[in-house]
Amino acid sequence: MENKHSSLGESHLDRFFYPLWLRIWHWLNAGLFLLLIASGVSMHFSSLEKPLIPFEAASLLHNVSGILLTINYAWFVVANFVSGNYRQYIPVFKNIFARLFLQARYYLYGMFRGEDHPFHISRKRKFNPLQQLAYVVVVYYFIPFVIGSGILLFFPELAPENFLGFSGITPVAIFHISIGYMLTFFMVVHVYLATHGETIWENFHGMITGYHSGHIETHPQSKDESSKEGKP
Ligand code: HEM
Repeated sequence: MENKHSSLGESHLDRFFYPLWLRIWHWLNAGLFLLLIASGVSMHFSSLEKPLIPFEAASLLHNVSGILLTINYAWFVVANFVSGNYRQYIPVFKNIFARLFLQARYYLYGMFRGEDHPFHISRKRKFNPLQQLAYVVVVYYFIPFVIGSGILLFFPELAPENFLGFSGITPVAIFHISIGYMLTFFMVVHVYLATHGETIWENFHGMITGYHSGHIETHPQSKDESSKEGKP
């Protein structure tokens, strides 16, 4: 793919960060999340007389979307491993607090003053430190937790009969809903922060075409690499 950066001597593959399998997983996941949130909120909050979505339909939609999300997630775990994309999710602990601070400072202060991103996308590291932390927690903890608790709600006979004095299904339901809230919060912040590329659409364009169109770091000794070690 020719683009305005080709003159810098990069190959178009240098800009290819999101393979097709990952984009399919991601957009299916995003769509299913929206359906799960809509049907979950409807079942939880609306009255039986005036439902947002009729209860039976919301329940069916929630169950079918949950099953599809589980299959899609299993596919992500396998493809993430086989493709090597899992390496992007291995936390780098060196100077982690300094690097997290730099990124948080940028989101809370620097970006409103037009400062440059402290970390640029590179082949070695496509996520900034906060993104990496959030993605690891969401993808490897919250999604499996919400799936696991969803399976227990789907097959209540599998839930413990008694948990800390409650009927076993009650704590499972509270846990499922709490993780659901946290995932919803993640999604809102994730979409908002995704608008903070070099242009509003840059990151969305990347997740649709596979190619990152903004600045990438190709030189290992660059400012970006040194700030990755916590030295701005
Ligand atoms: C409408 C909803 C969503 C939109 C518009 C959206 C947008 C994006 C964009 C633009 C990117 C590429 C830039 C980046 O890495 O930040 C991205 C990556 C990512 N998103 Fe989303 N997202 C949505 C929902 C979700 C949900 C619900 C999850 C998980 C619960 C999720 C998890 C991820 C992960 C893990 C990546 C990095 C994938 C990789 O490169 O390995 N997204 N998203």
